[in-house]
Amino acid sequence: MKTLTNRQYYLASRPVGEPDTSNVPARDVPVPDPAPGEVVLRNLYISLDPAIRGWMGDDPNYIEPIALGDAVRSSVIGRVVQSNSPDYAPGDVAMTMGGWEQYTTVQGATLNKLDESAGIPLSLFLGVLGPTGLTAYFGLLEVGKPKAGETVLVSAAAGAVGSIVGQIAKMQGCRVVGMAGSDDKCRWLQDELGFDAVINYKTCGDYEAAIRKACPEGVDVYFDNVGGEILDAALLCLNKFARVAVCGWISTYNVPNAPGPTNLWQLVAESVTLQGFTVLDYLERFGEGIGQLAQWVMAGELKYREEIVDGLDNILPTFLRLFDGSNQGKLVMRLPEE
Ligand SMILES: NC(=O)c1ccc[n+]([C@@H]2O[C@H](COP(=O)([O-])OP(=O)(O)OC[C@H]3O[C@@H](n4cnc5c(N)ncnc54)[C@H](OP(=O)(O)O)[C@@H]3O)[C@@H](O)[C@H]2O)c1
Repeated sequence: MKTLTNRQYYLASRPVGEPDTSNVPARDVPVPDPAPGEVVLRNLYISLDPAIRGWMGDDPNYIEPIALGDAVRSSVIGRVVQSNSPDYAPGDVAMTMGGWEQYTTVQGATLNKLDESAGIPLSLFLGVLGPTGLTAYFGLLEVGKPKAGETVLVSAAAGAVGSIVGQIAKMQGCRVVGMAGSDDKCRWLQDELGFDAVINYKTCGDYEAAIRKACPEGVDVYFDNVGGEILDAALLCLNKFARVAVCGWISTYNVPNAPGPTNLWQLVAESVTLQGFTVLDYLERFGEGIGQLAQWVMAGELKYREEIVDGLDNILPTFLRLFDGSNQGKLVMRLPEE
């Protein structure tokens, strides 16, 4: 077999604050021949997710930290170019946990085969029909438990998870309020996704006052994507028996020793349930979730935005856009198929 060269971005040191090229440099390494059961994928899409920043550190997390020297971990979709597995042949397309690299070598048993003939753009399996869509679906319905007529507040509302949360909450008959970091994003939420009210958290001033104004009947479900001061303000606006679904705390990921929330007393004052979750808690039900999300997308009832960026050598600066809010929806890297 021809020896392939693999460009990789790997974890050389654990970042403190925002990762830079000293933490995540590039290297070119040969792709080893696949061992028994293994498959080599040429990556077509690499998912960029805020959680990757957590895996670069070594704090306890829901999966192991990325080992120093390993390619930065990401979900990938690729085409099989070499196979030593009876279940895969060159040309097949599959999704797996891979890395910031051109070629990913894994056991065939870890792959999920994707059917290109269905005509669904492959990148959607990293977004609305994949981990972020499923996070929104299970996190809102199983953790947030919204009821018709209730008010649902969502932060990072124009993002991959938040935009789906808001639309599913509307389908449940809720009043939906989104917080996002630009007027353009807020307009999209209100004009195209049907959010009832929006808050540009970068210009609104006092968060608590802005949430109270946008949620005159209080908040029954807060879907928390950001943590930090927005969570603290939301805690002050919760109704009796409200639920807080803690999905992620992106505002803290690049902040060493970020302070915790100070208004947790509200859990007692209003008998609130605050529950963290990961999408992996619902692994057994992924089929159900993808089926429902796909049905809504095909019926035009669930809209999504994805931003596809070309070129592996742009991967670190592109990843960092998740933290300055310049991404427009689900952020994905595309690699050329040669
Ligand atoms: N629990 C799980 O299983 C799970 C799975 C997937 C994702 N998540 C979490 O869900 C959240 C959203 O992830 P995503 O993939 O959907 O990303 P995303 O929302 O598409 O992109 C991240 C967005 O976060 C906002 N943001 C960044 N820094 C912020 C800050 N300091 N304060 C407030 N907002 C900030 C930005 O939007 P603005 O322009 O609005 O600032 C940015 O566009 C993250 O916390 C992530 O870790 C959890």
